[in-house]
Amino acid sequence: MSRISYVNGRYIPHPEAAIHIEDRGYQFADGVYEICGVFEGRLFDESAHIDRLERSLGELRMSMPLGRCALSVVLREVVRRNRIRDGIVYIQMTRGTAPRNHLFPPAGTSMSVVVMAWRQDMEKMEENAANGVKVKTLPDIRWGRCDIKSTSLLPNVLAKQAASDAGAYEAWLVDENGFVTEGSSSNAWIVNKQGQLITRQLNEQILPGITRGVVLELAGNYGLDVTERAFSVKEAQDAQEAFMTAATAFVTPVIQIDDKLIGNGRPGSIALDLRKAYQKAARATA
Ligand code: PDD
Repeated sequence: MSRISYVNGRYIPHPEAAIHIEDRGYQFADGVYEICGVFEGRLFDESAHIDRLERSLGELRMSMPLGRCALSVVLREVVRRNRIRDGIVYIQMTRGTAPRNHLFPPAGTSMSVVVMAWRQDMEKMEENAANGVKVKTLPDIRWGRCDIKSTSLLPNVLAKQAASDAGAYEAWLVDENGFVTEGSSSNAWIVNKQGQLITRQLNEQILPGITRGVVLELAGNYGLDVTERAFSVKEAQDAQEAFMTAATAFVTPVIQIDDKLIGNGRPGSIALDLRKAYQKAARATA
């Protein structure tokens, strides 16, 4: 079956789906994106993703180039045309195509809108969850507005590659005070020896993960003791459990941070319970 993607109002065979070479996303990373999970053919937490998209656009002085309902129709159509059961929908919006100039393009320039969808390798994801993954810590060299889901991801790309080169699955980024901010494409969590669930508080240093929000709510419902604060690499290495969250990873246990095994070196029970609860919620409400 051939893939179909949406580009500026048209559904196009994926190999031909293209954007102009003077698109500002291509030249300046002047755009934002969203990634929303698809469970049993339906989008999970779509409105939270669209809220974050609107916020990211607003922070960069762009507005939604199409209404929420119209966007929703496009997302569903891309999922349907690609027959995605369990996968991902990717949305990217940029300031549009214009002659290269750092200044914003003239008023009236149409923004570019792209929507793609793909299947997730659920088997591989389950294997990662069952075995747990390793993370490598690296300095967080990103800009001061990591709360915006910008397509400007060069530090994230470099960190993920460095982690992979070192045999790790994810990079955990560390601020100048030795505290973990988040992963290169996920939020970071630990459970300390007192059983407290800890993830960094929201501010301009991290992305407000939608999965993070869902997991915080689930953890609260389960009566877990949850604290939103920064934790150091040392505290993470001494934790009883660690895990990461993202729409592309759900809740994935972390079993090693740099050279240090976490707990007994096996996925933690709280992480695995939260993963099950997340998947149940996603399937029930999608
Ligand atoms: N990344 N932090 C960063 C830096 C991210 O890029 C992501 C998601 C998250 C988790 O956000 P959410 O729970 O809403 O997926 C946190 C996506 C999946 C990506 O760029 O591939």
